[in-house]
Amino acid sequence: MQSHLFERNRRLRLHPSIRTMVAENTILPCHLIKPIFIHLGQDDIPLPRLPDGRVTAMSNLLAYIEKLLKIGILGVNLYPTLNKEDKDLTAEEALNPDGIIPQAIKLIKENFPECVVIPDIALDPYTSHGHDGLIDSLGNILNDKSVDMLIRQSVLYADMGADYVAPSDMFDGRTVKIRQALDAANHNYVGIIAYSAKFASAYYGPFRAALNNDHLKAIDKRSYQLEPTNSRQAIDEVLSDINEGADMIMIKPAGHYLDIVLKTREITNKPIAVFQVSGECALIKHAAESGIIDEKRAVMEQLLSMRRAGADLIFTYYAEKLFS
Ligand code: PBG
Repeated sequence: MQSHLFERNRRLRLHPSIRTMVAENTILPCHLIKPIFIHLGQDDIPLPRLPDGRVTAMSNLLAYIEKLLKIGILGVNLYPTLNKEDKDLTAEEALNPDGIIPQAIKLIKENFPECVVIPDIALDPYTSHGHDGLIDSLGNILNDKSVDMLIRQSVLYADMGADYVAPSDMFDGRTVKIRQALDAANHNYVGIIAYSAKFASAYYGPFRAALNNDHLKAIDKRSYQLEPTNSRQAIDEVLSDINEGADMIMIKPAGHYLDIVLKTREITNKPIAVFQVSGECALIKHAAESGIIDEKRAVMEQLLSMRRAGADLIFTYYAEKLFS
């Protein structure tokens, strides 16, 4: 009898064609969503910490979207970059129908209706203190008052043509409240990508700089974002958002939270998105610039780990660099 103990597993990886045939996961441009910062100035502002990093001028936005679509990147996630002077305690600018994001959504959807437009829903680009919501005089988050603002922000962006809204705030009850408000405004087919498990992370630095919130590096969002110590609480947040009507579940950051992705994959059939956040991308970029690693291989390896864990979509600043 022939022994099968000596297993020739390398038969599955002997040459490139075989390896390609049996590849269990892929990274295609359609899996990637590009976060874009937009401002009203004349020219793009370079963001040297991020790959291909820039705050895009509104006047250059369409050309940029066209480039992404040509590569096969079908979705964009929009953030406004305001001047520091235009931020205040009320964040009323978030509800301005002529504001940066309403203008951008309209422009993109009028010219490239096939582009999936996903504006971020939160107040941190607009508040002088940099929190995602309104605060009282002691600095405590006013949960329900903030959610009222997020609802109005969501309906405004839906009015402008957004395909999905992506609340990134982690306040209680916002997913169901946004769903009800969208339905009441006849936006039944505008979806919600809910940041369900968003952790209070050290990796958001370059993003905060891009929003002109650089002076708030040490801001403490732990009364709403999750503690990195916790996974059961993260899964409870995922379950809440599924109950509240989220169409997709976002887990963020990506790299250190793949256990949450894996667990989420087991409890829902809804698409899962992860966000390779600014600090994660910056680490790779800076290591590559120092000659320590090969940039594209390192990015691909990280993105594949996210897909293996069960992510469908990956929000990443590397989106176009990987394919150009
Ligand atoms: C806040 C928000 C943050 C990011 C997206 N939305 C940062 C924060 O919580 O302060 C981070 C994204 C990144 O680092 O790339 N609404």
